Amino acid sequence: MVCLGNICRSPLAEGILQQIISGKGLDAEVDSAGTSSWHVGENPDQRTVEIAEKYGIDVSRSTGRQFAISDYDAFDRIFVMDEDNRKDVLELARNENDKSKVELILNVSKPGSNMSVPDPYYGGDKGFDEMYHLLSEACERIADALETT
Ligand code: 4NP
Repeated sequence: MVCLGNICRSPLAEGILQQIISGKGLDAEVDSAGTSSWHVGENPDQRTVEIAEKYGIDVSRSTGRQFAISDYDAFDRIFVMDEDNRKDVLELARNENDKSKVELILNVSKPGSNMSVPDPYYGGDKGFDEMYHLLSEACERIADALETT
């Protein structure tokens, strides 16, 4: 799961998918990162921690890290939150196989929409609830696909 800061969207996406995977007894590694180095080593934004808590997920101990080329080797799928993330992550791709791993996360739940998960960082609390619902729907579809592979 990749966003810009790794303190709002991607740690929540990681927590949601991890919760669904654990509930289904699936075996998959989930992680998150930011394209920027701005919040490396920091825990998620308090508003993210609170929205996760509201839905029974603890993301408080996640620590920010920056997306690295080695993530292309470590992971089969790389879900990005918006077009900027997609561009930044694709710039580090070494080959077509790397590129094929990158997908806008909302294209999983809303195929072909090319929609972004709005960045809630500068907005109010409403943005965090919307973010949860968008990510939750997408993560359910990702877990469904994992179940059938
Ligand atoms: P995220 O949100 O990419 O969902 O973690 C942001 C967090 C921090 C900043 C921007 C977006 N920032 O400008 O510091």
